[in-house]
Amino acid sequence: MSTPLDPFAAAAARAVATALDLDDPGQFQVAAPPRPELGDYAVGCFPAAKALRAPPPKLAARVAERFSPGPELESAEAAGPFVNFRARRSALYGHLFSAAITDEPPLIPQVAGGEAICIDYSSPNISKQLAYHHIHGTAIGHALCNIFRALGYRAVGINHLGDWGTTHGMLLAAYERWGAPEPLTVEALNELYVEFRKRAEQDPALEDEARAWFARLEAGDEAARETWKRFRDVSWREFSRVYDELGIRFDEVKGESEYEDDIPEVLRVLEERGALAESEGALVVPVDDEGEDIPPLLLKKGDGATLYGTRDIAAAIYRHETYRFSQSLYVVDRGQALHFKQLFAALRKAGFAWADRMVHVAFGLVRIGGKKTGTRTGSGVKLLEVLTEATARSRERVKAANPNASAEEVDRVAHQVGVGAVVFANLISQRQKDVDFDWDEILTWDGDSGPYIQYAHARCSSILRRAREQGLTPTQDAERDRLAGDREWALARKLAEFPDVVRRSAQGYEPHHLARYLLDVCAAFSTWYTAGAQDASQRVLASDRATAEARLTLVATTREVLQRGLGLLGVAAPDAM
Ligand code: ARG
Repeated sequence: MSTPLDPFAAAAARAVATALDLDDPGQFQVAAPPRPELGDYAVGCFPAAKALRAPPPKLAARVAERFSPGPELESAEAAGPFVNFRARRSALYGHLFSAAITDEPPLIPQVAGGEAICIDYSSPNISKQLAYHHIHGTAIGHALCNIFRALGYRAVGINHLGDWGTTHGMLLAAYERWGAPEPLTVEALNELYVEFRKRAEQDPALEDEARAWFARLEAGDEAARETWKRFRDVSWREFSRVYDELGIRFDEVKGESEYEDDIPEVLRVLEERGALAESEGALVVPVDDEGEDIPPLLLKKGDGATLYGTRDIAAAIYRHETYRFSQSLYVVDRGQALHFKQLFAALRKAGFAWADRMVHVAFGLVRIGGKKTGTRTGSGVKLLEVLTEATARSRERVKAANPNASAEEVDRVAHQVGVGAVVFANLISQRQKDVDFDWDEILTWDGDSGPYIQYAHARCSSILRRAREQGLTPTQDAERDRLAGDREWALARKLAEFPDVVRRSAQGYEPHHLARYLLDVCAAFSTWYTAGAQDASQRVLASDRATAEARLTLVATTREVLQRGLGLLGVAAPDAM
């Protein structure tokens, strides 16, 4: 636990620690009370009960009694084991406004000093389509890169391309036998693979052919390498198109093949560190003595071939040497949980202390209409097609909402909305949960969707535009006591949580916290804004200038949080839609 980044929440934790004569305010969790009438920040006294040998309600009463008002908090009241604090509204508005308008203090404080965090994500296999299910890990990994970066870490986004292994022998064999139409496409390669698997079931000799091709590839045979390289280039070109659509850029793209040269040295080091053993002619790292009963990590088969895990060992060592990471994350589906257990255990066994800083950030399956998707049978839905269709499906709605926009403008916004909807749909659930794909659910503008948040953001932008026409601009010097309503306050209280939500998303590797939070911000904004539509005295652009300016600044603050939040999730924030 650490002290909250919201200075008002931090003051609440501090007030408790001070009143109880304890050093570490970080032990106290600060949350919003269950009902806003109770106060703004609730702190439970549970963590202190043991050390102070007193029941939490007694401690809460003591805190309330000893409390004295400060610049952030004006009152404290005990409620059972909790202390409910009330913030000084004007001070909190002032803090929010300067953070949002001038970024001073920063809206998202830097909690790190450039420590490197490697984030391996997306990492597809070449010669196969980027299928729809790839979006889940790709969206989570991208969001985590953005989130860690915003907090001051040096996030290194890594695409560990699957471009090595016996599959590529199969592809070479199939291509040599049956060829493929030019210009070569990933789709054609995928079909070759499917065809090969099908025929190999009848004709096992094909498998030998594939092994022979892979052996040639490993031995550096020029023809084999050249064809394989074409497969790789064609694949990467297609993958890049999808990453461009998503606005993703990797800091490192390194295929498994690129670790081949390191492997003899890696094996030597593991041997030297006493981690290797021989088992039925194969080379393994026995890891079953790690307290848990897990099978050994296979590094070299009897025929001398290396494996996925061997290359992951080499890649892990490379990443540590290159980046000196403080954490190394693998955003990979939970189906590979055993692989990562073995990998981390093998590295620990070899005495690499940094293996404790590696994390498998597992995520759940993607289903379409309740069915698991996959490319093994060639039945996968292409990710690019889904993005294109999502854009097409959004176009009508965008056009209807912006009758005066040019065709290009409509296209641009439809793309932001369609792609944003798909990305958001893959971030809104806890990552371990399976996600089901449903067009209506993800594309709606008024459910728990990306477009709903984008729409609230666009609405804020449009209010700001209208205000500018009336000569009004948001300012951190706005008269804060003009903001007297409880609906405004509920929104402000929500906005103040932003930096802590970002940090919690990083700590749990859960962009879903941020996605959920943005929906809550929109709900609070909408409650306030709708009240204005029904009651003229509550209108944002009130007739009284000072009030209008203050409310406008709250709109600008909301817009800033939505824009930054969407940006961290990898979702665009159009100004009109
Ligand atoms: N290419 C693998 C697959 O498609 C995922 C690789 C994940 N990263 C890693 N370092 N193992 O299943």
